[in-house]
Amino acid sequence: MKSFWGKLNKPFFALAPMYDVTDAPFRAMFAKYSKKAKAKEVPDLVLFTEFVSCDGLASEEGRSKLLRELYYTEAERPIVAQVFGARPGNMEKAARLISELGFDGLDLNMGCPDKAIEKQGAGAALLKDPILAREVVAAAKQGAGDLPVSVKTRLGYNKLDLVWLEKIIATKPAALTVHLRTRKEMSLVPARWSDFPPIVTLAHEAGLVVVGNGDVVGIADGQQKANASGADGIMIGRGAFGRPWLFAGGEEPVLKEKLKILEEQTELFWDLYGPTETNKKLFAGHQKNFAVMKKHFKAYVSGFAGASNLRAKLMAAENPEAVKKIIREAEKEGLGCLV
Ligand SMILES: Cc1cc2nc3c(=O)[nH]c(=O)nc-3n(C[C@H](O)[C@H](O)[C@H](O)COP(=O)(O)O)c2cc1C
Repeated sequence: MKSFWGKLNKPFFALAPMYDVTDAPFRAMFAKYSKKAKAKEVPDLVLFTEFVSCDGLASEEGRSKLLRELYYTEAERPIVAQVFGARPGNMEKAARLISELGFDGLDLNMGCPDKAIEKQGAGAALLKDPILAREVVAAAKQGAGDLPVSVKTRLGYNKLDLVWLEKIIATKPAALTVHLRTRKEMSLVPARWSDFPPIVTLAHEAGLVVVGNGDVVGIADGQQKANASGADGIMIGRGAFGRPWLFAGGEEPVLKEKLKILEEQTELFWDLYGPTETNKKLFAGHQKNFAVMKKHFKAYVSGFAGASNLRAKLMAAENPEAVKKIIREAEKEGLGCLV
């Protein structure tokens, strides 16, 4: 198997899969501002797509729409596609497609607490059905061929469940990411890093690469948590919102620079997902609502005087031209003197 997982320098970092957040334009910013800062030692970074339904990918109609979520560029490598689902036959088909699309890895979601996902027997519901989970992993491996299949899961459903973790480890995914909370805890309590070391040991004994996830705020914090737990890698989700430079480990850019990066991401979003020729060519006209950018406006524009005012204006913007105009005006009105 041509797995990239074992070749990463440790501890490596990963951008967490986040639905409606880690789309291609956002990931492109990480490829540019976190991976390419070659002036000093930058940790290896793995990017994940947001999750995509294996049932959707297995159907002709769904596939044509979902290819929009599976778009990536070479600069993002290693890039892993994340898929959820509980039907082994569809998982096998989806895995074959992910492999044909040239991804570096396929990750299976076994932790999502969303009711709509659980109703399908997928996401965190698989923690209650380890036999089906094993079949799903086996089907994914069958379809993926040479491509490494990894799993992202939680500590347990209602409580820390070492039996679940042992069972999923026994399916021998190439890598195992553990979001250090239970399904019941959602994201409402602090991640339980103190529970992680014995899980890391179990997974290492089985030859897996192990990744810890939950509440990590930056590189130094992640390195400390990797050292303390023995994890090979650290995955960051919310801590990377609005901070595509995070994994380069340097200083925060000044405000003017941050807003420039936000504009860049907005333009790329529009080009890929707006009413453009690129969108027609790449995704047969399947667009995305510009409102998806609002989460990003909120994340980039915070923590400085005048942020809430600027944010409110950006929330009403409907295209990149409007975004640019609002930022230019804010800079003229004095935001510029803060940068
Ligand atoms: C908006 C949002 C969307 C998410 N979507 C996904 C997803 O598609 N797949 C997944 O495995 N986890 C998803 N997660 C969970 C994150 O990947 C991660 O496990 C969780 O946020 C904990 O990490 P953090 O404390 O660093 O944010 C999502 C989380 C958020 C906040």
